[in-house]
Amino acid sequence: MSTDLRIACVMVGLPARGKTYIAQKVCRYLTWLGIKTESFSVANYRRKLVGSGQPASFFDIHNSTGLKQRREAATAALEAMLSWFDREKGTVAIFDATNSTKETRAWLNEQLTRNNIQPLFIESICEVEDMIGANMLDVQTHSPDYKNMDPIKASKDYETRIKNYVGSYETITEDNYSYVKLVNSGSQYIINLVQDYLESRIVYYLINLQTRPKRIWFSRHGESQFNIQDRIGGDAELSERGRQYAKELPDLVARNIGDRPLVVWTSTLKRTIQTAAGLPYPKKQWKALDELDTGVCDGMTYDEIAEKYPEDYARRDEDKFNYRYRGGESYRDVVLRLEPVIMELEQHENILIIAHQATIRCMYAFFMNISHEKLPYARIPLHTIIELKTNAYSCEEKQYKVGVEAVDTYRPKPSVPLIKKLKEQGEAVRRNEGASGEIADASEPILPLSPVLPANKKPSVSRIQKSAPIKPDLMSA
Ligand code: F6P
Repeated sequence: MSTDLRIACVMVGLPARGKTYIAQKVCRYLTWLGIKTESFSVANYRRKLVGSGQPASFFDIHNSTGLKQRREAATAALEAMLSWFDREKGTVAIFDATNSTKETRAWLNEQLTRNNIQPLFIESICEVEDMIGANMLDVQTHSPDYKNMDPIKASKDYETRIKNYVGSYETITEDNYSYVKLVNSGSQYIINLVQDYLESRIVYYLINLQTRPKRIWFSRHGESQFNIQDRIGGDAELSERGRQYAKELPDLVARNIGDRPLVVWTSTLKRTIQTAAGLPYPKKQWKALDELDTGVCDGMTYDEIAEKYPEDYARRDEDKFNYRYRGGESYRDVVLRLEPVIMELEQHENILIIAHQATIRCMYAFFMNISHEKLPYARIPLHTIIELKTNAYSCEEKQYKVGVEAVDTYRPKPSVPLIKKLKEQGEAVRRNEGASGEIADASEPILPLSPVLPANKKPSVSRIQKSAPIKPDLMSA
């Protein structure tokens, strides 16, 4: 998305109020939507300036050296943020720190507006002891400030640090600012002067965001008739093995999910509905979960596409995320249509989504923080349940592979994109014949075009555990 609009989300709140979690989630959400976003943590600049492991007394308002150095760190973070906006043509930056006094906010407001950046203050207020305790534990476990410190000592020090902020903390009452206050993780919201579409979108996401840990399960439909013929799109029935997967699914789900109150979401296509048929849980069909629309290529094999539309085929390999099928969709389009599903997922837990290769890739990338470039190549095998467990600072993944064979529909990215080969071939033809710069006739495929191989693995049940990349060093200042 290219726009002249520049927004700085300025986090506000005492330590251990989930600010960094919120900052990271907003950053991930906007990046997933294609909006250039970056988070700037004052704590990181403070650690660069004075090192980690500063005692609680460093944060005492009466400690003039500490105060001066913290201001220097805030200035360095602000300068980095301002130059990022100019250098990277960024749209949204997140300024992650306590920003807990009116004086600091007035300074930031002045600096930002002077640089044509709209400040949006996001205050996290938390008065529930349990929630504060959980946040404190998260910080103590992940913050470089407490790395290698005895946990009891770390806990005492962090408590004192928080007390040092309480005396000077002023909740936002500056009614000339755009702000949103999030009270006790979703029990109340106060929204003031939220102006344009992008700000409203950020606020809408914030009010859907739940900070408690949750689990989500994904499964592609069982193997379909089209899968075994190597055809894409369509609305085919399940294959024999696909029906077997659907039969085994209820048992597997019950074993892993136990008696949690599960809800199953499917697309509106036959293969997902048939896969979910035996599951004894409430079900909801979403059109938004339907497979990527392949337009004029619907029902074709990849080889047929390569032969009939060689340039399209090559362009897709070159930029799979942005390539839009003629009369159909791109992965970028699918991300946008899945946004309402992500909003619902943020609010709910214990959802099993039975969908398709491309749509699951898009949702998986959101939770696992995968870039747009890598998203269309995420491995989402058939006959496998993917469990994601999201916590404040990470998203843990487990895969349960069911012992029913299925074809492998994965196409890796070619190491030399076909379009490059075509261009090179075009150059060669031009050199030889003095022809114009058109791409050479590509009806003869240059790279091997039969990527879909039947799986010949033995039936197996395996568990793979991975973690989403996290930024544990983004702590409040
Ligand atoms: O091959 C199964 C399928 O779900 C197709 O219907 C769909 O077009 C394709 O996967 C998406 O995967 P890719 O983007 O890798 O072609």
